[in-house]
Amino acid sequence: MPFLFVYFVCFVVNSSDSLRPFMQDQLAALLAKASAELPALATRPEFEAAKARYVGPNGELTALMKQMGSVPKEQKPVVGKLVNEAKTALQAHLDAALSRIEAAELSAQLGPAVDPTLPSPDRGLGTHHPLTLVREEMTRILRKVGFSVVEGPEVETEYYCFDALNTPADHPARDAQDTFYLPESARFGNVSKKSPHEKYLLRTHTSSVQIRTMLKGQPPIRIVSPGRVYRRDTTDATHSANFHQLECLYVDKNVTVRDLKALLDYIFASLLGKDTKTRFRPHYFGYTEPSFEVDLSATHLPKVNKPWIEIGGCGMVDPVVFKDVGYDPEVWSGYAFGMGLERLAMLLYGIDDIRYFYQNDFRFLKQFA
Ligand code: DAH
Repeated sequence: MPFLFVYFVCFVVNSSDSLRPFMQDQLAALLAKASAELPALATRPEFEAAKARYVGPNGELTALMKQMGSVPKEQKPVVGKLVNEAKTALQAHLDAALSRIEAAELSAQLGPAVDPTLPSPDRGLGTHHPLTLVREEMTRILRKVGFSVVEGPEVETEYYCFDALNTPADHPARDAQDTFYLPESARFGNVSKKSPHEKYLLRTHTSSVQIRTMLKGQPPIRIVSPGRVYRRDTTDATHSANFHQLECLYVDKNVTVRDLKALLDYIFASLLGKDTKTRFRPHYFGYTEPSFEVDLSATHLPKVNKPWIEIGGCGMVDPVVFKDVGYDPEVWSGYAFGMGLERLAMLLYGIDDIRYFYQNDFRFLKQFA
């Protein structure tokens, strides 16, 4: 208020001739004050308050600009220019203050500077992920009885993932709502297509590795193939759009369902304890005949509250599949099975939500040290 009063008095006493030097002085004083005050502002609220004091609707510069109405016409260009210059200079002070405050806020958020070339202050040894632990344990168990580990690509073609596994074109698993297909334009130098019209996809199961292995050579074959698979599932406690499976294939002469059942009994007893039992339920898979779903009974494990838990699928390799890869089904027989690694790890460690595996939460991972 005293400030405006001074103006008023000045206007009354000043003739229009002296208005220009008067405005000039006022603007210079304002700028001097701003250039002393604004660089000292430290926080955003301080900045906002200062900004309002200078250029807000009741601000000091705003008040001076309002005086333009009283400036005689012939002086308007000169005084207007002075006001504009002052305005630009003030804005530059404000901008500088704001960027300085923003930079301070950012560095407060980032904390002290980190020198990535120094040794890590947290040199604690890493641990294996629970899925890695289960994968390694399963492959160790299977190696002991003659299986060797092979890998297959996660980007597959329809041929390896479906066609060669005797899965008809209209099978629901092939639906675009279940399978991630890659765009036509996608090219993968290391995965070749059988026919130019087939699509690339993210494999929905590790069974594709059966075909890749059989096409590479002659029986006997005894392989285990763990790996990541993809399905268009909405994530919840038991579903994830990508998860892991473990596939086994055994091809030899005179292989029977008994061998299959014996192997499954052996691996689950080895992994989950000798009280673990398995059972087969008849099912349908295009690539095995007969086919079964495998259930586990493992009530001795933590958080297992059902007498039987489905763990995977299996069966005797269908002669159609053998013919397709050039094996004589009259000579060769075999079994195959596939199962989810997350499911196994959840059983083994009593984990009740699949999402824990992928969140990289230290509190979760540390428990497997
Ligand atoms: N591929 C099946 C799935 O993802 C599991 C499976 C079933 C694998 C039968 C097999 C098999 O090898 O013979 O659900």
